[in-house]
This record gives sequence, structure tokens and C-alpha cells, in this order.
Amino acid sequence: MKVGVYPGSFDPITLGHIDIIKRSSKLFDKLIVAVLINSAKTPLFSVEERVNMLKEETLFLENVEIDVFSGLLVDYMEKQKATAIVRGLRAVSDFEYEIQLAQTNHSLNSNVDTVFLTTNVQYAFLSSSVVREVASFGGELDHFVTSNVESKLREKFKQED
Ligand code: PNS
Repeated sequence: MKVGVYPGSFDPITLGHIDIIKRSSKLFDKLIVAVLINSAKTPLFSVEERVNMLKEETLFLENVEIDVFSGLLVDYMEKQKATAIVRGLRAVSDFEYEIQLAQTNHSLNSNVDTVFLTTNVQYAFLSSSVVREVASFGGELDHFVTSNVESKLREKFKQED
């Protein structure tokens, strides 16, 4: 069974992430979307909230599972018997960080490769941090996230007012 892992922070999941999940799920028997538990960062959404949003947005994809991980990604890959990491590439600016990550992971475990999917042009500018910033100022979000995620963002910033 070919297992792929799409790791990330997903704070929150954007339409760009959903596009990568849909497309990469076709490349594997099973795709695990894995949320990093990172105590060094203070996210907007808790791990639980992010996992729930990911589950809600991927319900229709039968071979997609949502999970969490901490520590090294290559160790998680081994535990899941997964051989490919999926990452989206938006622009040249992503490349430097992504190649470093891919090469580090491959040198830590030579059984692990990274597969890059180029982001759909309509989402080339999109990131979770852009979404959080727009949401914090009450801007339009319907081209960036689903209506479900939008309402969760609105709730968050209402609480913080
Ligand atoms: O969505 P992000 O924040 O760009 O995702 C980054 C992520 C989670 C893929 C990366 O930070 C990661 O894999 N972290 C786990 C620790 C690790 O294995 N790092 C790679 C060696 S530097």
C-alpha cells in the first residue's frame, strides 16, 4: 500500500491546502494529513480545532485520514510506513525552504522522498498567515477558505475583540 503524508500547521486549512489534498490523494492508496504539534509556536487554532476543521473539509475523500504528530517527520513517516511527503509549491520563494526540508528529511531517512505539487495559480498567493491577517481586520475571506472555516475565523476574532 502506497502511503503519503501531507504535513503542516494548517492554521487554518485554506482552499489551497484542500486543492493539494484532493490532487495528492489520487497519487496514493492512503494520504495522511498530519498536523504538527509545535509547542514553540502559538497558533490561532488549537491542534484539536485544526484537526476537526481538516476532518470536516475532507469527509468526502475516502482515502484521506487526519492525524497529528510531534518530533521528527521522518520518525512519523516510519511509524506510518509512509514513503512520500507531499508539499505544495506556490512560488520560487517557497523553493529555498522546501528544498532544505526535503533534503534534510531524505538525508535523515533515505527511504523518504518528497513529492511537490505546484499550487493551482488561483491559490498561488494564499497562505494561512495571509488568511489570519485578513480575518483579523474583518476582510473578505470567501476566496481563501470554506464557509465553515470562515465562520470559525469570525468567531475567533469576535472573541478577541
Ligand atoms: O505548514 P508548515 O508550517 O510549513 O509545515 C512545516 C512542517 C510541519 C512540514 C515542518 O516544520 C516539519 O516537518 N516539522 C517537524 C520537525 C522536522 O521533522 N523537521 C525537519 C527537519 S528540519
